[in-house]
Amino acid sequence: MASRSSAQRPNGATQGKICQFKLVLLGESAVGKSSLVLRFVKGQFHEYQESTIGAAFLTQTVCLDDTTVKFEIWDTAGQERYHSLAPMYYRGAQAAIVVYDITNQDTFGRAKNWVKELQKQASPSIVIALAGNKADLASKRMVDLEEAQAYADEHGLLFMETSAKTAMNVNDIFLAIAQKLPKTDQAASGSDAAKGRRLVEGADSAQRGPSSCCK
Ligand code: GTP
Ligand code: MG
Repeated sequence: MASRSSAQRPNGATQGKICQFKLVLLGESAVGKSSLVLRFVKGQFHEYQESTIGAAFLTQTVCLDDTTVKFEIWDTAGQERYHSLAPMYYRGAQAAIVVYDITNQDTFGRAKNWVKELQKQASPSIVIALAGNKADLASKRMVDLEEAQAYADEHGLLFMETSAKTAMNVNDIFLAIAQKLPKTDQAASGSDAAKGRRLVEGADSAQRGPSSCCK
């Protein structure tokens, strides 16, 4: 659930509301889920990013006009042996980014299966974005932009091609999600993520990234 509160400045002036959302990344191993999160949260890219074990938890905030949106991000492991853990991460999530690699058609098929699973089993109001990652590798492209766009339109998904390497569309996809999420009044505190974190084996300890705005 989104939780909302008003941030008070020391002089008592109200800074605007703060909304908190749980977001999960899903997709086949090596499509670049962790790299997208690393780019978004820390502005970094690692050529030799290690495969995720279990899941990792990070946070990042973005600002929209008078609203600060705080994302609690669950970066899941794409290896098949972790598939059964996925519902633990997408349950209660308000947003999901399903990632595929534009140079690998199989990963697009896998992404479609994730979308199907989310639309069947996750919250009915979940905002789903499809990310065609590794857009910098255009010469090795195996998935048409138009085909992916048509699929996304048909299924009501946000869609962008991204590159964690060059940072293309990385902030933009999170921002588009933030804009689409309903900023409703919800019970404050007690985020699902904090509860979920205790359930996760092999998760990184929570890392606090620098806020990209609202300093
Ligand atoms: P799992 O944790 O196993 O599920 O994989 P993942 O989806 O988190 O992939 P990860 O971020 O570990 O990236 C896999 C490999 O792809 C790494 O070597 C990254 O450096 C590389 N990579 C990720 N994103 C990009 C990108 O946008 N462009 C290019 N060229 N390489 C990328
Ligand atoms: Mg990973």
